[in-house]
Amino acid sequence: QDADASAPEEYASAVISDLPSNPKLFLRRYQGTWVLESWVPGIVAIQRGFAPRGGDVILASPPKCGTTWLKALAFATMARGVHPPAGDPGHPLLRVNPHDCVPFMEKLFAAGLGSKVMDALPSPRLMATHMHHSVLPASIKKNPDCKIVYICRDPKDMLVSMWQFSRRIRPDLELSDLLEAACDGSCLSGPIWDHVLGYWNASKVSPETVLFLRYEEMLQDPVSNVVKLSRFLGRPFSPAEEEAGVAMDVMRLCSFEKLKDLEVNKAGSGSGSPSLRGVREGAFVNSSYFRRGEAGDWANHMTPEMARRLDAVMEERFCGSGFSF
Ligand code: A3P
Repeated sequence: QDADASAPEEYASAVISDLPSNPKLFLRRYQGTWVLESWVPGIVAIQRGFAPRGGDVILASPPKCGTTWLKALAFATMARGVHPPAGDPGHPLLRVNPHDCVPFMEKLFAAGLGSKVMDALPSPRLMATHMHHSVLPASIKKNPDCKIVYICRDPKDMLVSMWQFSRRIRPDLELSDLLEAACDGSCLSGPIWDHVLGYWNASKVSPETVLFLRYEEMLQDPVSNVVKLSRFLGRPFSPAEEEAGVAMDVMRLCSFEKLKDLEVNKAGSGSGSPSLRGVREGAFVNSSYFRRGEAGDWANHMTPEMARRLDAVMEERFCGSGFSF
């Protein structure tokens, strides 16, 4: 069901309750995509009122697919002129969680802070979303001056990661509940296949504005992916930076081990950024974003039958698309 012409708040109260729901997961289906009910007003506000600026970079992902890592990498890459990734004890990533360096659009706009916070960010701005490509406003999708970096991950690891994350506040949640929802498309940010294919196809049509990354490939060769990211963002490493190993420095600063062991990520919670205060409060503690950081942990939690089932659904859905996990 589409947004009508009323203001987001009116839309929220009047229409959200009519959207199809997955009550167990607190989700609503908005324009064919399953999102947290509390994000719907934010998505509507983004669709109606987000004004992109030339140079904007949107980091897009389904949840639990490496968003935190991508935020850190993109931030460290873009900010390296002011904050060298090595030898800067005041580097923001050493002081605050990556989610406080790159705002999450749906929550920001749902909190009514979208324009205020976004307008105050210096260009080029970095922001993140879990929205499907189909739901992004045309002002982003059709803008040759906006770039999108997408990251996805084996859905088996995504689900296990989501399950472990959600169990912090929903101890009753079973992995089988998430599996059911993922297979019928109604998990958070589902259908997963539509989420991935939207960005996959966009990256094929417009590789200069959409970069498609995979978590597993990043784990295998993080430095090459940092180099790829820097080129895509129009900030390639200079010969002097190459000589000095700056891509390696970015990779090290943003590595799972480094970020996980920082005091702010071991003990912190909510927002360490004044402009995001009120948006990340009450969110998960910072340590919850750093669990194992590996590929293949699904095998420790899913039965072979569960894995086969999810793989089969994905294979069927991706058949003929040119994409496979
Ligand atoms: P696991 O739960 O499998 O360990 P998101 O950032 O989208 O919420 O995704 C979280 C997943 O990314 C978690 O996976 C988390 O451990 C992993 N992760 C977080 N930071 C990372 C990093 N710097 N490098 C690699 N993986 C990271």
